[in-house]
Amino acid sequence: MSLVSTKEMFKKAYGKYAVGAFNVNNMEIIQGIVDAAQEEKAPLILQVSAGARKYAKHIYLMKLVEAAMEDSGLDICLHLDHGADFEVCKSCVDGGFSSVMIDGSKHPFEENVALTKQVVEYAHSKGVVVEGELGKLAGVEDAVKVKAEDATYTDPDQAVEFVKRTGVDSLAIAIGTSHGAYKFKGEPKLDFPRLEKIAAMLPGFPIVLHGASTVLPEFVKKCNEFGGDIKDAQGVPEEMLRKAGTMGVCKINIDTDLRLAMTASVREYLVKNPGDFDPRQYLSPAREAIKKMVQHKIKDVLNCSNQA
Ligand code: G3H
Ligand code: 13P
Ligand code: ZN
Repeated sequence: MSLVSTKEMFKKAYGKYAVGAFNVNNMEIIQGIVDAAQEEKAPLILQVSAGARKYAKHIYLMKLVEAAMEDSGLDICLHLDHGADFEVCKSCVDGGFSSVMIDGSKHPFEENVALTKQVVEYAHSKGVVVEGELGKLAGVEDAVKVKAEDATYTDPDQAVEFVKRTGVDSLAIAIGTSHGAYKFKGEPKLDFPRLEKIAAMLPGFPIVLHGASTVLPEFVKKCNEFGGDIKDAQGVPEEMLRKAGTMGVCKINIDTDLRLAMTASVREYLVKNPGDFDPRQYLSPAREAIKKMVQHKIKDVLNCSNQA
């Protein structure tokens, strides 16, 4: 079995549903996600951040994903999330990933174009697809924090120029989502007219939505019930994500919701079983919590069951 690219996945999904891209950091997270996708017969993107590569090491993640494909029989795309420079993208292309993201969104437009083009040329020469980003999301990713006032929405004309000049295979855009658990102050709002315009100006071209966790209140509540202290968390309402999936958004990135589900489960187990110290005892329900969360996303948010 070998990893698959997103080309066919996105072609099939366009305008109908979105494929989930879930962040992975260890074996239990990979197993929980893959079990859910297998049961739902869903297309699947597993994504690895620079932080995840540092935590678990590239080779461990690679081998775990290889094992997951062999064990489940599922086609999986393995994607680099938020590649910051050419070197990290090259290292993931050379190291066997089937997709990479070059995130040049913090650079001025011309620099972003030049950097993205450089990655596209290299990745395409090795048969690997590339996601670019234009516009700036607020929130925390790796050690980078972008304040809400520094976030900038994607300009539709620039998006067309960016895609044309770089040759990227998909584009992450900023329409109001943000990374982490604190996405909105007050009423959640996404700029759907902007998404509609970008999709109309780039017909059939796959759009990506980052920062798309919903931050379900029951998981925040459970974390807090068992010793956590998470205040004012708010995510993207599920109906907004369902709508985006019919408007040209082919890939929806989810990490925070998995973190919350896993942490709520571990907290609950340890508080309820103070005498236990076998990691398998608290990681088994945590893995199950990841599976349930991903299954919910696939069925009720992404609408991609039975599309593998
Ligand atoms: O967008 C960032 C993802 O949630 C990954 O987070 O960089 O802490 O692994 P991380
Ligand atoms: P969340 O923090 O909303 O889960 O977003 C994850 C993400 O965009 C990963 O690239
Ligand atoms: Zn992201």
